[in-house]
Amino acid sequence: MAKFIVDGNRRLQGEVDLQGAKNSALPIISATLLCSGESVIHCCPIISDINASIQILRYLGCSAKLSDHTLIVDSKDMNRCDIPENLMNEMRSSIVFLGAIIARKGKAKLYFPGGCELGPRPIDLHLSALRKMGVIIDERYGLITCRVKDKLHGAKIALPFPSVGATENIILSAVLAKGTTIISNAAREPEIVDLCDYLVKCGAEIYGAGESTIYIYGVDNLTPTVHTIIPDRIVASTLMAASAVTGGELILNGIISSHLDGVIPLFEEAGCNIKVRNSKLKIDSPNRLKPFKSVRTMPYPGFPTDLQAQFMALMTVSEGASLVTENIWENRFMHVPELMRMGANINVHGHASAIVRGVKRLSGAPVMATDLRASFALVLAGLAAEGETVVNRVYHLDRGYEKLDEKLRAVGADIERIKEAD
Ligand code: EPZ
Repeated sequence: MAKFIVDGNRRLQGEVDLQGAKNSALPIISATLLCSGESVIHCCPIISDINASIQILRYLGCSAKLSDHTLIVDSKDMNRCDIPENLMNEMRSSIVFLGAIIARKGKAKLYFPGGCELGPRPIDLHLSALRKMGVIIDERYGLITCRVKDKLHGAKIALPFPSVGATENIILSAVLAKGTTIISNAAREPEIVDLCDYLVKCGAEIYGAGESTIYIYGVDNLTPTVHTIIPDRIVASTLMAASAVTGGELILNGIISSHLDGVIPLFEEAGCNIKVRNSKLKIDSPNRLKPFKSVRTMPYPGFPTDLQAQFMALMTVSEGASLVTENIWENRFMHVPELMRMGANINVHGHASAIVRGVKRLSGAPVMATDLRASFALVLAGLAAEGETVVNRVYHLDRGYEKLDEKLRAVGADIERIKEAD
């Protein structure tokens, strides 16, 4: 297991190129199953979640080759419709293969994704939507066994919550279904729009992606295409946080600024000066951040839950008290005790809100990464802290951030990856 050693209290300065969005790439990789033939996906991040998806593609009988951020998938010879337990466990989001496997093969057999560090990970919304579209589902012995009676058919689906994964699975199964599917209260994330852009290039008929109601008119077949994954808005915001927490000045290359509309005002509230020009963003940060009045996680276009931990790290060293409310996941404050080991002053109320009172300086300490985003929050705290921080279990971080240590080092951070035997 690898760990990071961060020697903090250094101002970051320089330019960083963004990686492609993990949460776009995963459903798009699954969507390559729908077009029998060779798909080419550019700007694929080189991270462990993408490697797990490639393993699933190969298990299903497809060929998949990732080289220099371009993934070439040939799904012509797909000959299986199941995903074994070890591959399901490798990555919780492997459930996004469900809709595509059913649409391609008329049946699917997957293991239930277990709970994870964020709390329970139910898939009831995915399954009830698929049932409405004519899928017969048996849930027993930890397995989800699905078969389509005649042909997958369109349906009107009103989601009680705009679940990202459920919206993706419905889209993936509806594009080849007979008739029209209307999803109301759909997730509106840019990653959903990217998935739909990809599918439309393949010949799918989808209208309303990025809005609350999505209309999908089923077509008979899709043809493979070439697509470029959008830049990762969560990685972009996390790097902005790295500038903010170190009083630094970073330039990010390759952003889509509209995807950052919900977070730029918060950085400005904290005293950062942000300039955006085309696909470049420059963030210039003050020596000490102002507190945030209130940060509440919400479905897009609200403030992303995937940035809550990183913003909490900023609050720990800001000049006053900030309130954080987590509305999406039941258990997403696992970073709190770790930040407190570094001297942060945080009071958690129930499981959904916390008051963070900024301290002048954190002090380095050994801490444990608990999930992907929480891991980066600890790196941020380490960058701001006096002395050495050891972040253990960085395999969480490798799921979503490509060459993070190298990128931070290039802009002045003192961070080192130490590999240890398991
Ligand atoms: C996606 O997960 C992201 N993952 C998550 O990012 C992100 O935190 C989340 O959306 C919310 O934005 C990927 O895109 C791969 P949801 P997903 O279905 O699709 C409840 C990261 O760090 N729910 O929108 O699994 C659920 O329990 C990851 O990159 C049900 O109740 O999220 C949760 O409370 C972590 N029943 C809420 O909805 C369901 O059937 C949001 O879940 C499905 C979800």
